[in-house]
Amino acid sequence: MSRRIQAIRGMNDLLPEAMAGWQRLEATVQTILNAYGYCEFRTPLLEKTELFARSIGRATDIVGKEMYTFEDRSGDSVTLRPEATAGLVRAGIEHGLLHNQVQRLWHSGPMFRHERPQKGRYRQFHQIDVEAFGMPGPDIDAELVLLTARLWRALGIGGLTLEINSIGTPDTRATYRKDLVRYLESHRDQLDEDSVQRLSKNPLRVLDSKVAEMQPVIMAAPSILDYLDDVSRAHFEGLQAYLADAEIPYVINTKLVRGLDYYTHTVFEWTTDLLGAQGSVCGGGRYDGLVEELGGKPTPGTGFAIGMERLVDLLNQQGLVGPEPNPEVYVAIMGEAAQRQGMRLSERLRDQGLLVQCNCGGGNLKSQLRRADKSGAKFALLLGEREREDKMVSVKDLRTHGAEQKQIAHDEISDYLKRHLS
Ligand code: HAM
Repeated sequence: MSRRIQAIRGMNDLLPEAMAGWQRLEATVQTILNAYGYCEFRTPLLEKTELFARSIGRATDIVGKEMYTFEDRSGDSVTLRPEATAGLVRAGIEHGLLHNQVQRLWHSGPMFRHERPQKGRYRQFHQIDVEAFGMPGPDIDAELVLLTARLWRALGIGGLTLEINSIGTPDTRATYRKDLVRYLESHRDQLDEDSVQRLSKNPLRVLDSKVAEMQPVIMAAPSILDYLDDVSRAHFEGLQAYLADAEIPYVINTKLVRGLDYYTHTVFEWTTDLLGAQGSVCGGGRYDGLVEELGGKPTPGTGFAIGMERLVDLLNQQGLVGPEPNPEVYVAIMGEAAQRQGMRLSERLRDQGLLVQCNCGGGNLKSQLRRADKSGAKFALLLGEREREDKMVSVKDLRTHGAEQKQIAHDEISDYLKRHLS
């Protein structure tokens, strides 16, 4: 026997029994996004590496350490997308969808980051990504948060906390960065190695560290909110007013800076402590400079992405996933001539709206009934040579112990099943 090949570490197979949660999430998301007027948009998995370096930022962990980057056969450097925002902006500029107009767009699909895999953190994971363009005010930031809150309500999910912050404009952030570095330098001996390295490249990320010994230093660090200019402050207050109107509770987390460089003004995350270390279920914010940075005309943008694996975990954990839909009827067939009739009968029953699984691949009656039982169907229809000649079907109730098998005429079978399935 040849050696078995296994999946790549951190890249999961989603088995059929896991899909009910995914399907519930996808269907609910779609309904809610339609209700708010967002349009679906799909972009390629593979983009030029420069797109991510310029948008997410060369100094970020994502670009510096986590991207799946390689040369394609023409020698061009390409990257499997680690997130969706950059690709959507690239496509929006390319197709003239962003300048001087308002767009509400969404996308879902796999993303790739070469992180250390653990529960809730994978190398291929899935996001639902929602982006809005052309709207500079806090109203649309608030709409995005309201939309996520509605999604949690529709799914029945509890235990999520909304954290918000404002990281101001690039100018105010540069001043903050200087002061933060000065402060952190003065506590260098209390920083871990990672944070010391970040001091020169990406000091704001030091605030994100979860290392327990560093928390006193982090807690006492200068607050970015004290550095906001009047416009940023008004924007942030505007967002809070909308959230208050909608009665959405939130906490202001001045240490929330996010791991991507393109943000301006509002940033937010929905977090939970029900998932262990990977508690961020949804994150996003405003990125008013990104379209221009990627070669478009200045256009405000704002958005978020939901980590689907983490949300599906929460759905399962909170018992919010129903069983997979079963077939209602299993058609068991004895003999080659009956097979053709069984296939025709199955199609006719599906035309009538019934969920039907028809036995294929042969097998004796006993094994077919075993498959019928495993399928979860309530009824098995037995079709052999005799039934075929008599234009009858034997109906076996698989879920009522000791129920008698019934003979039903072909043209009455669909009415009979519908009566007994309702
Ligand atoms: P992000 O915070 O990097 O933001 O990712 C968003 C969400 O994706 C996270 O909150 C988490 O739920 C999920 N996620 C991230 N990495 C992993 C992983 N390795 N395994 C499993 N789940 C993961 C962005 O990607 C931004 N593009 C969001 C955005 C859209 N900002 C504005 N528009």
